[in-house]
Amino acid sequence: MADYSGKKAVITGGTHGMGLAIAKALLAGGAEVLVTGRNEQNIEAAKAELGPAAHVVRSDAGSLDAIELLGKIVDDKLGRIDHLFINAGTAILEPFAAVTEESFDRQFNVNTKGAFFAVQRLAPLIQDGGSIVFTSSVADTGGTPGMSAYSGSKAALFSFTQVFASELLPRNIRVNAVSPGFIDTPSMGVPGLSDAEKAGFMELGDTITPMKRHGAVEEIARAALFLAVDATYTTGTKLPVDGGLGQGVQYPQS
Ligand SMILES: NC(=O)c1ccc[n+]([C@@H]2O[C@H](COP(=O)([O-])OP(=O)(O)OC[C@H]3O[C@@H](n4cnc5c(N)ncnc54)[C@H](OP(=O)(O)O)[C@@H]3O)[C@@H](O)[C@H]2O)c1
Repeated sequence: MADYSGKKAVITGGTHGMGLAIAKALLAGGAEVLVTGRNEQNIEAAKAELGPAAHVVRSDAGSLDAIELLGKIVDDKLGRIDHLFINAGTAILEPFAAVTEESFDRQFNVNTKGAFFAVQRLAPLIQDGGSIVFTSSVADTGGTPGMSAYSGSKAALFSFTQVFASELLPRNIRVNAVSPGFIDTPSMGVPGLSDAEKAGFMELGDTITPMKRHGAVEEIARAALFLAVDATYTTGTKLPVDGGLGQGVQYPQS
């Protein structure tokens, strides 16, 4: 098991799904973690699951006031941190003709604006030599129908990854992104899916993904922790964890 003892990490959107898996792996290795979420029920469930070594904080990733407050809470509870995971995200599936200003703003506020300002607020708390990992999406490139606003909101994260990697080089803080394909999480990244819609989404993923299966949250956690901790000569890049979906890989035709 990896040894994260003495390390401190913040994970936005860590109350379920991939963020929770990252938190659990860090805690298992002895790290101290602070995770955020918004939904109270999920916050209580995460507190019970992660135990007393974790700080579980209600904080809306799309609100600049909440991000400012989060900075104060992190400073108060953890002081300097080693790793920051900007993982909170949301998607609304709709053709571009149906996108409203409200749905556009909801996705960009959490996925893009919130991600940007969370790094701006929390970067001063990261130890020199620390790291930042964004959770992007396989849909951050390519033309996935029904994901125009979401894809745009995630595409911006790769620009942030590269520019922040440059600006934080003098402090030896590495900045990278993990780019998941279809991953089995409570929401599949699309909050509000019905059970039938989720099953259909999973089936689509299992059909179109070259590896013919969806991914597990632990596979994302391993990739995110590799970038955060082990990839000491890697910065400004994106690691796809998508079963080959966004990589031009094709299942051989019989
Ligand atoms: N699952 C996939 O197939 C997939 C694929 C590609 C990319 N992604 C991306 O991967 C990341 C994690 O996705 P996931 O599937 O693990 O999602 P998830 O299971 O829905 O978990 C998302 C986490 O983010 C939190 N969150 C959502 N909106 C928030 C907000 N406004 N403020 C604070 N916290 C918020 C959620 O908390 P509450 O809901 O409790 O508030 C939860 O802790 C997201 O950025 C998503 O876009 C997912």
